[in-house]
Amino acid sequence: MMQTGPHPPSPTEQAAYAFLSPHLPPPRSSAAPAVPFLTLTYAQSVDGFIAKRDGRPLALSSPFSSVLTHALRASHDAILIGVTTAVNDDPSLTTRCVAYDVTGAHGAQSPIPVILDSGLRTPVTAKVLRIPRTRRGCDSNSKVVILTTRDHDAEQKRALEAAGAVVVVVASDAHHRVDFPSALHALAHHGIRSVMVEGGATVIGNVLQSANVKIDLLVVTLAPVILGRGVHAVGGASAGGGSQPSEMVAEEETPRLVDVQWKQFGPDMVMLAKTARPSTGVEANGARGL
Ligand SMILES: NC(=O)c1ccc[n+]([C@@H]2O[C@H](COP(=O)([O-])OP(=O)(O)OC[C@H]3O[C@@H](n4cnc5c(N)ncnc54)[C@H](OP(=O)(O)O)[C@@H]3O)[C@@H](O)[C@H]2O)c1
Repeated sequence: MMQTGPHPPSPTEQAAYAFLSPHLPPPRSSAAPAVPFLTLTYAQSVDGFIAKRDGRPLALSSPFSSVLTHALRASHDAILIGVTTAVNDDPSLTTRCVAYDVTGAHGAQSPIPVILDSGLRTPVTAKVLRIPRTRRGCDSNSKVVILTTRDHDAEQKRALEAAGAVVVVVASDAHHRVDFPSALHALAHHGIRSVMVEGGATVIGNVLQSANVKIDLLVVTLAPVILGRGVHAVGGASAGGGSQPSEMVAEEETPRLVDVQWKQFGPDMVMLAKTARPSTGVEANGARGL
């Protein structure tokens, strides 16, 4: 591994990249794909929750598996979250915890933040809009991208644009939310070749349920924590005493995990897998009928 910085990568950073590198998106020097390479990643408790029942932010990943998450951030053009995570957690979505990219030849860069926000609920004061970052060179001019629907508030759109966001209107789905396949195409149009979906639960559920979306890489961190109640990792908006896993697509369309690998990072187990949807024929880095 070449090194350009003052310090060599930590043993955990080296272990994270060694685990991830065969599975990461192709380098930007390769031909642009029709739809971005898609990674879905989240951390969950042993009993399947990604947040407490009131939706308050919860650090589930240990410092060791956080290094892996940030190595993933450094390896993707964009990082995508749902607007509820943007509101509840107010994350910066920057790359920290790693010093280098996967080659070891360049410093780690931050991905372009993307928010799925049908009605433009993202606050203009959101940290993600205020924090400067070293970003990858994409056509979006490295700004925060907010994907919305026609039902947005025009005044809020102007306010978010004034705050530095690129607001892109895409088609809505049957639930009047941003249509996920259309979102991927809009991102490809903006020069984004790889997207890392980091949650929350509703977005994770929607990605898993979208029969015509291929998940190229699934990375799940299992933290040795039992929460009892909370936001279920897949599709579970928390209400009162907890949540239910979302209704998945028909069983024959449920993503099948292939090439599964596990590795321990500190106290956490991290699962890495590719996915296939047997009945749809959707394979790696492709989207059916788009
Ligand atoms: N442990 C982890 O790895 C992790 C990671 C991230 C977040 N979280 C936690 O997850 C919690 C939030 O999860 P959540 O399920 O309530 O919200 P979420 O998934 O962050 O956001 C869901 C919202 O995004 C908007 N949206 C627009 N298009 C969408 C689409 N195609 N699919 C899904 N959503 C779409 C919808 O709101 P509109 O209709 O208003 O557009 C929807 O209600 C937070 O408490 C956060 O702490 C945990």
